[in-house]
Amino acid sequence: MKRLLFAAVIVLSFSASLVIAQEKVVKKKRPLPHDYGKVVMNNFSESNKMSPVVFDHWLHRAKFACKLCHADIGFSLKAGSTGIRAADNISGYYCGTCHNGKMKINDKTIFESCKKEALKEDKGTCDRCHSYGKDVKREYNFAAFTAGLPKERYGNGIDWEKAERDGNIKLISELPGVTFKRKQMPVQKDFGLEPKIAGLPEIVFSHQKHNIWNGCDICHPDIFAGVKKGAVKYSMTEIFDGKFCGVCHGTVSFPNIDCQRCHVKPV
Ligand code: HEC
Ligand code: HEC
Ligand code: HEC
Ligand code: HEC
Ligand code: HEC
Ligand code: HEC
Repeated sequence: MKRLLFAAVIVLSFSASLVIAQEKVVKKKRPLPHDYGKVVMNNFSESNKMSPVVFDHWLHRAKFACKLCHADIGFSLKAGSTGIRAADNISGYYCGTCHNGKMKINDKTIFESCKKEALKEDKGTCDRCHSYGKDVKREYNFAAFTAGLPKERYGNGIDWEKAERDGNIKLISELPGVTFKRKQMPVQKDFGLEPKIAGLPEIVFSHQKHNIWNGCDICHPDIFAGVKKGAVKYSMTEIFDGKFCGVCHGTVSFPNIDCQRCHVKPV
């Protein structure tokens, strides 16, 4: 009985600190749906008299699988840390893999990225990416673009998982010349992650679904060693801090305040 009481106290105090953590997250002004997953890059732009670059996940993730960009093209999973240079884009890497003025997606040629010098007639094109702090007219309007997609409460306000399942969006996960062939690994079975604390409902984690979006290399070995389920311990506090599941959940995928999408029962 004493032991039970002790366990209950631990769970309660954990929950209390989580409530505090959750409040901190909520108070830290939640981004608007169209700003969720937005990355501003300014390692080299302003120092070279260009406006910083704005990259929107909502538009790109509605067209491409995460894996194509984060495994095959090589963008980092931490804002600002890829260190993209204009010269890389001009040589056809990073943004320039697609934004090269030649590649066609759905019969539309994708506009070109950086050039050595901005000629007058290029200005409009440069501004499409180097848009931070400017009033640039977008081609894709968030509200119109997402109007037909299933809704969720948090993040972009879109249930991306359902959008894909129902065929509202069809993701391109391979591009010729970009995707390198690798040995097919068997897809792991789905499993519940057992919380360390007794009495908490288990956490849903679907390998099969995550693999559609991500491919193995995004998570293994950098985020999860993945040798043996349960071998590495991680806590909710670390997830809130942007580690483990929190690398994606809280930045691009649905945020951690949506407890019940991972914890199937109330926590
Ligand atoms: C068209 C390419 C592209 C696609 C598709 C894409 N990303 Fe990204 N992602 C980027 C770029 C570019 C960055 C910024 C990298 C940088 O700043 O160095 C980024 C950054 C991130 C970050 C770091 C964000 C932060 O605030 O630190 C995460 C996490 C992430 N992406 C996850 C995802 C997930 C999950 C998906 C699929 C749902 C996805 N990305 C799809 C290109 C892409
Ligand atoms: C995997 C291919 C791919 C990569 C990589 C990629 N994009 Fe795009 N991007 C697209 C496509 C396709 C469109 C839609 C173009 C169209 O319909 O005209 C687009 C559109 C855009 C738009 C136009 C938004 C609007 O509403 O006008 C911006 C800005 C943009 N991308 C920025 C970037 C930046 C910055 C990077 C690199 C950090 C990048 N993209 C990397 C494929 C890509
Ligand atoms: C598809 C998106 C895209 C377009 C369009 C684009 N750029 Fe860039 N550019 C980038 C990204 C991403 C960076 C790196 C941002 C950073 O970290 O500062 C960059 C950086 C730069 C830099 C910084 C210097 C350096 O060595 O990296 C210059 C200068 C530049 N671009 C020039 C141009 C010019 C001129 C145009 C128009 C002809 C243009 N860019 C259009 C994405 C774009
Ligand atoms: C979104 C991230 C993610 C992706 C993508 C992913 N995994 Fe995992 N994988 C995990 C997590 C989380 C665990 C459990 C690790 C833990 O919590 O200790 C795991 C565990 C494993 C394990 C150990 C399983 C066990 O029963 O002990 C193997 C093997 C594995 N993954 C292989 C793969 C392969 C192969 C792929 C691609 C087909 C893949 N994973 C894709 C996140 C991922
Ligand atoms: C992206 C999925 C995800 C979301 C969203 C999520 N959790 Fe968790 N949670 C986990 C994982 C994974 C663990 C660690 C399991 C283990 O013990 O190994 C965990 C563990 C916990 C624990 C056990 C104690 C600890 O610190 O590890 C509590 C309590 C908890 N979560 C509460 C919450 C609350 C409250 C929310 C909403 C504010 C939430 N979780 C949202 C995935 C999630
Ligand atoms: C590499 C990025 C990444 C990591 C790491 C990651 N996820 Fe996800 N997860 C996604 C993406 C992308 C989706 C699609 C939905 C979205 O983006 O909102 C998703 C969706 C989910 C869903 C909803 C799918 C469904 O079955 O309805 C759950 C639950 C989930 N993740 C749990 C977890 C847990 C638990 C972890 C950590 C053990 C984790 N995820 C780690 C990218 C990631």
